[in-house]
Amino acid sequence: MSNMTDTTAPFQQSIDALQLAAGYGKSYVEAIADRRVAPLDADISALQEFDIALPASPRSAEETLRDLDRLGSPATVATTGGRFFGLVVGATLPASLGARVLASTWDQIVFSDATSPVGVKLETVAAGWLLDLLHLPKQSSVGFTTGATVANFTCLAAARQSLLARQGWDVSTKGLRNSPPLRIIASEQIHVTVIKALRLLGIGSDEIEFVPCDAQGRVIAEKVPELDETALVLLQAGNLNSGAADPIGEIASRAANTGAWVHVDGAFGLWAAASPKTCRQLEGYEKADSWVVDGHKWLNTPYDCGIAIIKDPKPVHLTMATQAPYLEVGGTAAPKDMVPEFSRSARGVEVWAALHSLGRAGIGDLIDRSCEHARDFADGLAAMGFQILNDVALNQVVAAWPADESLAPKIAEHVKTTGTAWFGPTNWQGRQAIRISVASWATTKEDVSKTLAAISNAVSALSVKA
Ligand SMILES: Cc1ncc(COP(=O)(O)O)c(C=O)c1O
Repeated sequence: MSNMTDTTAPFQQSIDALQLAAGYGKSYVEAIADRRVAPLDADISALQEFDIALPASPRSAEETLRDLDRLGSPATVATTGGRFFGLVVGATLPASLGARVLASTWDQIVFSDATSPVGVKLETVAAGWLLDLLHLPKQSSVGFTTGATVANFTCLAAARQSLLARQGWDVSTKGLRNSPPLRIIASEQIHVTVIKALRLLGIGSDEIEFVPCDAQGRVIAEKVPELDETALVLLQAGNLNSGAADPIGEIASRAANTGAWVHVDGAFGLWAAASPKTCRQLEGYEKADSWVVDGHKWLNTPYDCGIAIIKDPKPVHLTMATQAPYLEVGGTAAPKDMVPEFSRSARGVEVWAALHSLGRAGIGDLIDRSCEHARDFADGLAAMGFQILNDVALNQVVAAWPADESLAPKIAEHVKTTGTAWFGPTNWQGRQAIRISVASWATTKEDVSKTLAAISNAVSALSVKA
């Protein structure tokens, strides 16, 4: 054992551990631009070295961290570099990375300002900036969750509370068993995690009235049924394939006089509101009742960070608030009263750091650059002979290889195996295709060119084989 375990200087061990971790982190970041995006099979196999019996006795933090870096770092997928284009994954902004390290060192419990004055302050400031940036109502509740799934859950729980209250039913005290029925009206393209959130709330998928969508995956407004005060309408900003947004304003205007609740899952697409160039794709979105957006997607905060925004804070507080004899609740709306989590990390600090470091112009530039890279991808793929299946208005590209659409998963796998880039196959409107999502601040034009070259090589190699 090293002298890091010297009990006369307990915090010296923490200082050493921080320095060691910073050194490993620095080496990781130094190599990220040139390293493989997908790890080698050998590096994945080496993870078996973690399969040891629980250590019988203590060891130094140095030993623990050494194993973590030696085995763990090579077996990561390089999502923080510039060439990860799968799912919708942001990298980590420098200021947010640093804020994560500092906030981890503070290890704050952000359930109220009694346990973390700084955590609550920075979340409050970040919440105000977010509402300003996204042009959403100032009085909204802003809760920081693990991701869009839980943020959707949070908003839908508030919606249920509110819709049932309008029918004289307090679901917080009376429960669901004998409650009046609600109508759930959802885009047929709604994300699977919204359906999961409904399930967690006791609402099954057979209860949903699905509304058909157009070729871009946007709800057809005329097909939305008659709305009333029992209706919860689930729309999205940012279809995970095409990037398209539903006609939110049109549907929310119809809902306005009926008492229906309109919810928008904007996990990545709501960030379009932060750039004057893309904002108009979301026309009228601010008329909805609740919105979800992820920090860990296009804002490029570290995982995990989702944001639940609810215009009327009352129903979410009624649903999420907790009282216990040992709690002295500070402030008017404690974080624990806005989200399901009671004890949680100060994840809003990383949002604050992202917004503070980029500013309005930097965020607009991040959105615009990603969209420009997506257009360059579409142009490059079209020049190669791919058919682009979506309108590339945001950060998403869906492209089919017309000569043999079944090659799509093999093209994605081939490129992944070379280590150059990572993106996935998809099935879009019955067509097999590759799907590219640009959401990293670190992506450069060179990353796009390298990836296009790797796709071209993959197509040549696979076409020769076929
Ligand atoms: C439109 C949409 N909604 C919800 C989610 C779920 O987000 P999270 O993984 O942050 O829970 C995603 C994830 O990709 C998404 O694209």
